[in-house]
Amino acid sequence: METAEQLRQGEQAESLFTIHQIHHVEFYVGNAKQAAYYYRRGYGFKWTGYQGPETGVKDRVSYLLEQGKVRIVLTTPLNPDSSIAQHILKHGDGVRDIAFHVDDAAEAYKITTGRGAEGAVEPHEVSDNGGKIVRSTIKTYGDTVHSFIETKDYNGFFLPHFEPREDNLAEPVGLKHIDHIVGNVDWNQMEETVNFYRDIFGFRRFVSFDDKDISTEYSALRSTVVANDNLWIKFPINEPAEGLKKSQIEEYVQFYKGPGVQHVAVECEDILQTIDQLRKNGIDFINVPEAYYDDLLERVGDIQESIEELRRLNILVDSDDKGYMLQIFTKPVEDRPTLFFEFIQRRGGESFGKGNFKALFEAIERDQDARGNL
Ligand code: FE2
Repeated sequence: METAEQLRQGEQAESLFTIHQIHHVEFYVGNAKQAAYYYRRGYGFKWTGYQGPETGVKDRVSYLLEQGKVRIVLTTPLNPDSSIAQHILKHGDGVRDIAFHVDDAAEAYKITTGRGAEGAVEPHEVSDNGGKIVRSTIKTYGDTVHSFIETKDYNGFFLPHFEPREDNLAEPVGLKHIDHIVGNVDWNQMEETVNFYRDIFGFRRFVSFDDKDISTEYSALRSTVVANDNLWIKFPINEPAEGLKKSQIEEYVQFYKGPGVQHVAVECEDILQTIDQLRKNGIDFINVPEAYYDDLLERVGDIQESIEELRRLNILVDSDDKGYMLQIFTKPVEDRPTLFFEFIQRRGGESFGKGNFKALFEAIERDQDARGNL
């Protein structure tokens, strides 16, 4: 086996075991029934599955919501002593588990803990009429975890103890799959976290920007993206940096009471249509100053979308040498300024939108200037 040091020096680390995809993302929330309604009505997720006392799970209730290949599980505790309740007390609503679909959950646990990951739940079987799964869990940044889920001996619905549901309320808005999930860590923890993903999973450093990058000054963050070998799993890791204003990452860490998932980015079939519908559904997005669109084409080159439509919907564009991408960020989806969503459509571009930090701040300054306040 390669040592961590060899991996650190390697140009392209290889995954140490197969991770097929993100199996699901589990949120711990204060009231899953109401959160489910928000994601169904607001984001168009179909409520497809349920577990709780009626299905043999006594201490919690979970709602499975799906759209395209995105699966989210909203879980709420049924008593105050539960570790789920403690998690919510400390962090508010947030992402607890980014669960991976693997071939062998016991092996994944053995490899990762053998390379230094801290175990959370040892490999164990869970079964119902549909067969059995094997599941294990390790810790990552903050109180966030990664579960490994093995389903080769399971033919039932989703996971044992979940029952299917039919949803006639939600209207899907064209979401396809998760593009990336961003973790915020505290001051000077980014390298350590990036090394964790490299050493534990064999993920490689995909792209990073740092002090020398002008975007740091405007966004007050440093970021490095780690990715698995087939690039289906991309995790940007942010840490606060000194900038023109207080770092948004520092604010997150203060309110989340530690590191955690900052945003989940979802790829859309047609972002113009998706955002038009999400706005009709009452979803709030961050506002983009008018001036951002004035020099958009000079900045990103030719694009197929109409600038007027992008301006109307407040969608951002960033480009790199491979193409461009369109993106937009929601406001936080709970009252603490913590978790939010990003919607994204890639047209060749592989970036995560760093060009937009500078462009957004410059646009704000142009507006300020126009008001005579710069
Ligand atoms: Fe993002």
